[in-house]
Amino acid sequence: MTTTSPGVQNLDHFFSSSAARLDRWRALNAKAQAWAADARGGKSGSGRGAVEAALAEVRPLEDFFAFPGHRLMKTLAERIASSDALGTGRMVQRMSGALLSGSYRNDAGEWESSDDSAGSVPDRMPLAPGGGETRRPYFETLFVTGAPTANFPQIAQELRRLRRVEDPMIYEPVLVGSFEDAMMGIIMNGKIEAVVIYDGIPVPSQHDVPLLRDFLNVHHQLDTSSLAPRDVGVTLAQMIKRVRPELDLYLLTDREVEKLAGDPAASMIRRVFYEVEELTEVHLNILEGVGDRFSSPHFDNLKKYAARPIATFHALPIARGKSIMKSNWIRDMGEFYGQNLFLAESSSTAGGLDSMLEPTGNIKIAQEKFARAVGADHVFFVTNGTSTSNKMVYQAVTKPGDIVIADRNCHKSHHYGMVLSGAQPLYVEAFPMTEYSMYGAVPLRTIKQALLNLKAEGRLDRVKMVTLTNCTFDGHVYNTRRVMEECLAIKPDLIFLWDEAWFGFARWSPFLRPRTGLGAAAALEEWRSTPEALAAWKAQAAELGEELDPKDKRLLDRRLVPDPRKIRIRVYETDSVHKSMSCLRQGSIVAVRDEDYNHHVSAFREAVFIHASTSPNAQIIASLDVARRQMELEGYELVMRSIEIALTIRRAVAEHPIISKYFHVLGADAMIPAEFRASGFRDFLAPGTNWVTALKAVREDEFFLDPTRMTLVCGSAGFDGTSFKNLLAAKYNVQLNKTSRNSVLFQSNINNTRSDVALLIKVLLEISQQIDAELAEGGESARAAFAARVKSLMEDVPDLPNFSRFHDGYRDDPGSVTLEGNMRDAFFAAYEENDCEYLPLMSPKIDERLKSGPELVSANFVIPYPPGFPIMVPGQVIASDTIDYMRKLDVKEIHGYNGTRGLKLIKLAAIGKAPPGGQGAKARTAPPKGKTATKSEA
Ligand SMILES: Cc1ncc(COP(=O)(O)O)c(C=O)c1O
Repeated sequence: MTTTSPGVQNLDHFFSSSAARLDRWRALNAKAQAWAADARGGKSGSGRGAVEAALAEVRPLEDFFAFPGHRLMKTLAERIASSDALGTGRMVQRMSGALLSGSYRNDAGEWESSDDSAGSVPDRMPLAPGGGETRRPYFETLFVTGAPTANFPQIAQELRRLRRVEDPMIYEPVLVGSFEDAMMGIIMNGKIEAVVIYDGIPVPSQHDVPLLRDFLNVHHQLDTSSLAPRDVGVTLAQMIKRVRPELDLYLLTDREVEKLAGDPAASMIRRVFYEVEELTEVHLNILEGVGDRFSSPHFDNLKKYAARPIATFHALPIARGKSIMKSNWIRDMGEFYGQNLFLAESSSTAGGLDSMLEPTGNIKIAQEKFARAVGADHVFFVTNGTSTSNKMVYQAVTKPGDIVIADRNCHKSHHYGMVLSGAQPLYVEAFPMTEYSMYGAVPLRTIKQALLNLKAEGRLDRVKMVTLTNCTFDGHVYNTRRVMEECLAIKPDLIFLWDEAWFGFARWSPFLRPRTGLGAAAALEEWRSTPEALAAWKAQAAELGEELDPKDKRLLDRRLVPDPRKIRIRVYETDSVHKSMSCLRQGSIVAVRDEDYNHHVSAFREAVFIHASTSPNAQIIASLDVARRQMELEGYELVMRSIEIALTIRRAVAEHPIISKYFHVLGADAMIPAEFRASGFRDFLAPGTNWVTALKAVREDEFFLDPTRMTLVCGSAGFDGTSFKNLLAAKYNVQLNKTSRNSVLFQSNINNTRSDVALLIKVLLEISQQIDAELAEGGESARAAFAARVKSLMEDVPDLPNFSRFHDGYRDDPGSVTLEGNMRDAFFAAYEENDCEYLPLMSPKIDERLKSGPELVSANFVIPYPPGFPIMVPGQVIASDTIDYMRKLDVKEIHGYNGTRGLKLIKLAAIGKAPPGGQGAKARTAPPKGKTATKSEA
């Protein structure tokens, strides 16, 4: 995506880059220092012109930021105009330093315009009256006013006078004069936390912003030129909420405030004020609104608890830390972690600590705040990872005999969740990416076909849920809204479980939010009540009939519209907060937006009781609370930065003449087949790509690639994924997680900095140079060996096996087209060792049985790492492609495979036998239609 491409004049190409602003300041500083050096050396030259040109690049952006602000910029311009090279050098150095380090947020001196007059009291410092250092949180508030720009400095000064010593936080006003500039402000400036809109502001920006107009017109169907003046304020509030829903919005108007306050279209506005009223009220509201996001009830209370002198007479010796701090032998643990960790421990729920299992106090409030932050109705904290969150959802919403349509590559917690609940998986396959030994995501057509088949066979009523991984480990992001719309057109009460273990951060990116489960649920809910929704469904009904005929082939090829009057919005999203936010390991949430949740309240409580520990870790809960706080206050800026970092890595690898000889990061075009990219989007780096074309792809394409997940192909450098990962860790201190046969996955997150990028590029360069040298030194034979190794890694790749089928004995209706099966019975059948047998993978007996029977039926899950998905599940008939794949796998870790004894198989004679206790196949909710006896008993 274009971020800093030279020669781009429109201001709005910066939308995708806050780093671009800092780069421009760095460039200005370099020019200013060069001019100063010339002046010191008595040289004259083009220094001043260069500084002026660099300043011209910086200046238009500065309207949207509080620091350095109008006054410092004016002083700087005066110094340049008076050819004061040394003064300019000092000032630019200080300004850019303060910007880069963020010191302007708590150091009043940075706002002082005269660097020569130390000690004078600045009149616009971001401090409370009384001055001095402040540790109070700092933010910026955007004021959108129709006042003449010449009055802005004076208005800002009036706003600063509202500050009080008691204020718990401090903010600087940023003033803009139009609808479009307000949009630019909230998009570019991540420090903005609140927006005050004066009614009756003009629309057009004074800047050249064609991309912004495209964004409003095309993506939000908003023709700003036809906006009536009285609608501008509320429309602006609506648009801001779409981009940054976390911001507090205020409207100042001289209209009938009572009417506006009661207008549902203005519901996103936190308070409406009558313009002439006391501005102090606005000020106090701004502080209260941000304060509400800042407060983290569980963590805040834990801090208070830790400070109290409490004697504990419960189990948990580490609480208060005395057994550690006073120990001769383990004191170092206390010194390493710090005393607070132990002071904040308790196994009691008294003292305001609340109970995780039955929250009524600050944990309940913390969960409610998290729900607000992610746009859910309810959030449940989970202290044992999304592995547990997923199992809780299965436990709560499915029961034995229900069918769940699930991506076969989904995380093992889903498969185990179905074993626990007794739901029957109907596995659907993702598109394969055989050349990289990985899977993509499941095409919507496949999911629709499964639903239509079930409808045709009269079992649609048994389908409870669709489970998909969004995004996948490798970054494939579903078109969540479209998936839900089309599936609901076939079955209007389906539940969706979006496993967003990796994607929690996406909520804070306006690019990615529409593709989250909850983001799409909100859009669907909005759409459902529009007249267009019903009209679209009626048009479809006129053509295809009100009741869709599952045999009608047209249904697969067109975008189906659900009946907006019938659909239920029932969305569950699970997020590993610890994977993408500042949360301790295992912190996870189940977020619920289910309008029929009442059906599951008691089941959900049971699920919590079944899965949650009765000794939840208070620190994990606190970090969930704090992670939410951070994301609500700076998530937008941080996520933007992690996307920028990913784009920087992608560009640096692609453009480096030596690195790019051996390594490349797969673009969207390599990760997603063209048929799923209807918008024509090719890649973030492709010429002509900008944030508007990327948004078009987000809106239209079946799959989108999460830019922060970078598959680096290392097979072309002669490394398989695992060896490359080990090399990076052992020799270069670079850690990563996922690998494939010929690739490794790099992820950027809110923790990464540009220094990390620099390190990675340096390492890749060193490795590339080493390959260069080895090939040069080793001569023809080394080059031939290298080419052979690359060919083997890149071309001799095993085919990926599809799910075959469950054995007929584990199917309610063995003749059916759809292949759902009773995996739970098979799972427990394997508990009877006498009913199982083992065959070594290389045994010729396996080949014989594959050829002439009897069938091989897996007794358990077999999951090779990488790639990490089950190639066998309990009850699955093992097909030859699975055996071929397993034999070719060169990975050491295969969960569920007994290296000594071989594959664990269920003896066919045991299939159909009632499991101990008489449960299972004989006691399902939907009794089998056909016979359940096996076809070929062993
Ligand atoms: C798609 C997916 N879902 C769920 C999980 C489990 O999450 P956690 O590690 O938080 O238990 C993972 C773990 O890697 C995953 O990849």
